[in-house]
Amino acid sequence: MAHAATTAAALFFFFFLLHAAVRADAAATLSQGQSLGANDRLVSPGGTFALAFFTPTEGDPSRRYLGVMYARAKEQTVPWVANRDAPVSASSAYSAAVTASGELRVMEGDRVAWSTNTSSPLGNVTLAIADNGNIQLTAGRRRRR
Ligand SMILES: *[C@@H]1O[C@H](CO)[C@@H](O)[C@H](O)[C@H]1NC(C)=O
Ligand SMILES: *[C@@H]1O[C@H](CO)[C@@H](O)[C@H](O)[C@H]1NC(C)=O
Repeated sequence: MAHAATTAAALFFFFFLLHAAVRADAAATLSQGQSLGANDRLVSPGGTFALAFFTPTEGDPSRRYLGVMYARAKEQTVPWVANRDAPVSASSAYSAAVTASGELRVMEGDRVAWSTNTSSPLGNVTLAIADNGNIQLTAGRRRRR
């Protein structure tokens, strides 16, 4: 975990109420029920940051972590790690998902390895990554017509 600096605690949760303006950039968001697999990444709209699974360059190669990293950096630079204390096994079917209750979870098969422990009564939670490296869980319903 040498390069996974603890500098930026870049996790902010913004729970917007109804009619919140949510940017709908497909590549930068993960909707409720969708998951991010071993080879997937969310990229911020301007391409600066990505959220993806990684193995620390000097770490145990059998472990995987979900982190926010600089998308264009030549050297691995990971300002924020979700499951820092709960890595998943590289040989497992691991993924990250936004649950119906509004949590971001890191799964190792059916086991919850890490969770934001957040919940939203509003439903329809979307995870987004912004160009400042923050990841946000937003909730809200589509406007009724
Ligand atoms: C979520 O709850 C579990 C169990 O109480 C705890 O171990 C874990 O650290 C919590 N996650 C966060 C991000 O605080
Ligand atoms: C959920 O939120 C997204 C983003 O605001 C929106 O595009 C989508 O239509 C919503 N889905 C439902 C079922 O309300």
